[in-house]
Amino acid sequence: CSYLKEKSRKEVLEVLCQGLARQDYRGYDSAGLGADGDKPGEVFFFKEVGKVAGLRKQIASSSMDMKKTFISQVSIAHTRWATHGVPSIANCHPLRSDPTAEFCVVHNGIVTNGAALRLVLQKRGFTFESETDTEAVAKVLKYVYDSHPDRKTVTFTDLIKTVLKELEGSFAFVFKSSHFPNEVVAARRGSPLLIGVKTDKKLKVDFVDVEFAGQDSEDVKADTLQPTSPSALFASPSANPKVLRTQSRAFMSEDGLPQPTEFFVASDAAAIVEHTKRVLYLEDDDIAHIAEGELHIHRLRRKDDRNQSPAQLASTRTIETLEIEIAAIMKGKFAHFMQKEIYEQPDSVVNTMRGRVNFDTNQITLGGLRAYLPIMRRGRRIVFIACGTSYHSCIATRAIFEELTEIPVSVELASDFLDRKTPIFRDDVCVFLSQSGETADTILALRYCLERGALCVGVVNTVGSTISRETHCGVHINAGPEIGVASTKAYTSQYIALLMMALQLSEDRISLTERRNQIIAGLHAMPAQIQKVLEMDSMIQQLAQSVADYKSLLLMGRGFQFATCLEGALKIKEISYMHSEGILAGELKHGPLALVDENMPVIIVMTQDSLYPKVQSAFAQITARKARPIVLCNEGDEGIPANAKTIRVPKTVDCLQGMLNIIPLQLLSYHLAVNKGYDVDFPRNLAKSVTTE
Ligand code: G6P
Repeated sequence: CSYLKEKSRKEVLEVLCQGLARQDYRGYDSAGLGADGDKPGEVFFFKEVGKVAGLRKQIASSSMDMKKTFISQVSIAHTRWATHGVPSIANCHPLRSDPTAEFCVVHNGIVTNGAALRLVLQKRGFTFESETDTEAVAKVLKYVYDSHPDRKTVTFTDLIKTVLKELEGSFAFVFKSSHFPNEVVAARRGSPLLIGVKTDKKLKVDFVDVEFAGQDSEDVKADTLQPTSPSALFASPSANPKVLRTQSRAFMSEDGLPQPTEFFVASDAAAIVEHTKRVLYLEDDDIAHIAEGELHIHRLRRKDDRNQSPAQLASTRTIETLEIEIAAIMKGKFAHFMQKEIYEQPDSVVNTMRGRVNFDTNQITLGGLRAYLPIMRRGRRIVFIACGTSYHSCIATRAIFEELTEIPVSVELASDFLDRKTPIFRDDVCVFLSQSGETADTILALRYCLERGALCVGVVNTVGSTISRETHCGVHINAGPEIGVASTKAYTSQYIALLMMALQLSEDRISLTERRNQIIAGLHAMPAQIQKVLEMDSMIQQLAQSVADYKSLLLMGRGFQFATCLEGALKIKEISYMHSEGILAGELKHGPLALVDENMPVIIVMTQDSLYPKVQSAFAQITARKARPIVLCNEGDEGIPANAKTIRVPKTVDCLQGMLNIIPLQLLSYHLAVNKGYDVDFPRNLAKSVTTE
């Protein structure tokens, strides 16, 4: 949406395509955009299954006048990861209310009552072009508009507000309409959404007030607070849906006048950071309206707002200045983002520790936790909750966490935690690990724990993400943007963040001083040791060739190294599509041994710690079954049979060894995928940020 500064259609479309391409790392299966046509109210669409490059090609070969300029216009674009309906042009966003596209929408999330809405709309004569839940939203909007008695006075925001009350599930929407040219409305509930503001002027206020219409307005009545069933809106053919009204204050410039400004709405800062670093994160139930250089924010009333006065409810949305650099989200000299991120680890682990570990005094200071340490220490248990790689970083550090804090720790997969309706109490400390801070299951688990009064701590990479905002306190891992779908540097940084947390929680335990000092010394040496492991890259590349033709690859280990095996196997599956399993060596005789013969490649993690003799016995058991394992062991370990294939890594403290051991496995999965010609950064069927349940 741009003002006072003429832009050509070509420029506008490029801004959109570039923004979509910057979201590449989230993973998607199709891309589309909708922009203003030549005549007022006309919208044209470009849609493509596959990558944004395809969309760009389509635009390049279009007969549209690319030189046409606009002073003010609205265009919306989207990359889709299929949840309702297969990846296809028909299901690609933006979706429209009708063939003339009176209302168009792009949507991230799931409208869980989408099927019910479709049915009701079909009964009212609407025909659908796609299989999506999103199309129903565009059509409900048209229905509300068409049924309105006074279309001259109704505002775009009030229409959207009425529609949102009909929706269940999670969403971030951006709407455009031929009835409201040059206006855009964006809204969120459960899915991230932010607004970038580009302005040459100094801003008078650094916040936006959110006001409410007052006690007598429709939306403060308790009975409108519950999500209504679609049948309520469509109750009788003559029933006019009531359009709800609110007010808000504009976002002003220093001289108090609305100012010429460009606004960018996106679900991720990466999409807009090259245009502006000034962003405002929307909160759940916010509705943002942008028109004529002004941004207004409205908020839908929530159930828990019922007992509060408008004054209590008024809140602000601060404009933040992002520190993210565009260079950080580019590949640089590397062939793939994943490769770049593996190689960044000597630096990213330093960034995680920067300003927090004092290697002179052996003190740890996690500023974000300071005020909450007494509550954490008093907690009766600590529950780690996460998905995917983040979950593995919890398994990797659980033992040292328990050893240092002497508080029982349980580790939960967010989805399973919710499925079991796990009992959670006020004296529980729940720690939510997430690179993106936007994983739907982890967010739902967080809200579940918040409702039960537990202290909720976030360990997140993405500043401003939902988890970092909704937890009581937390630690940013500061690993920098991670773009490859397969997580690498976030794992080692989460590992360190959890270790630092355990070290800080145990700082008053005199009996542990020696152990703590040993770990802190190990952390000091870690970046150089990671660098050393990375130097084995060409050897690992050869190893990848030697196992590439097998169907399956097993990884075995125990104790601290079980997590290494799980995470190594996940990396291999994710990007090389080879079956791989991480096996606890202690369970070998209870099943996995049956898989072992001379045709099954096995990597056994045998770095030296207190469990070394037990892993040696597992090694003996598999070699007795003719396996010729690849041994991941420490440099200089003479206990490994001379004829064994080895990957030798430097030795560190037992609880840190997993950080060095995972790196050859990250490299191995990378080379396996490259050898097979797969799309390393964007593996099939996977997304970087899983924002739906
Ligand atoms: C997806 C990604 C994984 C990631 C997991 C959890 O599955 O592909 O790489 O580990 O989500 O994501 P989070 O952002 O919560 O750490």
